[in-house]
Amino acid sequence: MNNLEQTLSIIKPDAVERNLNEKIKDIFTKNNLKIKDSKKIQITKDEAAEFYKVHQSKPFYNDLCTYLSSGPIEVIILEGENAVIANRNLMGATDPKKAEDNTIRKLYGISIDKNSVHGSDSNENAKKEIKFFFKN
Ligand code: CDP
Ligand code: MG
Repeated sequence: MNNLEQTLSIIKPDAVERNLNEKIKDIFTKNNLKIKDSKKIQITKDEAAEFYKVHQSKPFYNDLCTYLSSGPIEVIILEGENAVIANRNLMGATDPKKAEDNTIRKLYGISIDKNSVHGSDSNENAKKEIKFFFKN
């Protein structure tokens, strides 16, 4: 292992609602990302607003926070070689219509907002996001 990392994945409400949790977690584990910890939770809109603070100036921010708090989610710590980018590659583009074949968003995403999964976009953000959900 040259660059063992952890990253945060969230299975979003649209995917939990369709019982896709195990299928999505299989994609991670089959691609050498280990599930180090996970839990099913539902967060408040205030918590979603805190989590997605980097997007507060975006036009979609309010709807995004309403959506992420609208139903149960599963938060997952993934660990593996270059886990941050490996997870982003498995997820595919933000807009499922633009996502590459066989990516999670291409397979399961419904729309740019209901795109089934979240993944940290950098090592620094991964550390913050893991701390946000797994405080210990
Ligand atoms: O999730 P990802 O890092 O690929 O995209 P982002 O640019 O960080 O946006 C965060 C989330 O906001 C996306 O996953 C979408 O759920 C949502 N979003 C949206 O609803 N409309 C957009 N035009 C862009 C993003
Ligand atoms: Mg992002």
